[in-house]
Amino acid sequence: MFRRLETTESGEIHFSYEGRDIVARAGDSVAAALLAAGETALRETPVSAAPRAPYCMMGVCFDCLVEIDGVGNRQACLTPVADGMRVRRQRGARVVL
Ligand code: FES
Repeated sequence: MFRRLETTESGEIHFSYEGRDIVARAGDSVAAALLAAGETALRETPVSAAPRAPYCMMGVCFDCLVEIDGVGNRQACLTPVADGMRVRRQRGARVVL
């Protein structure tokens, strides 16, 4: 569905999504890296657990919410990937500690 544009950019970043190793490019957002890796549904709604995928890619729709390093409600489209980052699908509402 999604594919990367050809580029001369280099620099791999490794992070995990649901325990799976994902290779991203430096400068990718978490959402862009996950879409390029074939992951589409990044969260489930609190009421019906319906899957949601990133839609606007600019911080408006909030359909890209994920848990990053144990913190929920992070917008994947606005968060740059970082080496070693642990990303999980957000299931339902964020748990407030
Ligand atoms: S994709 Fe819409 S806010 Fe992230």
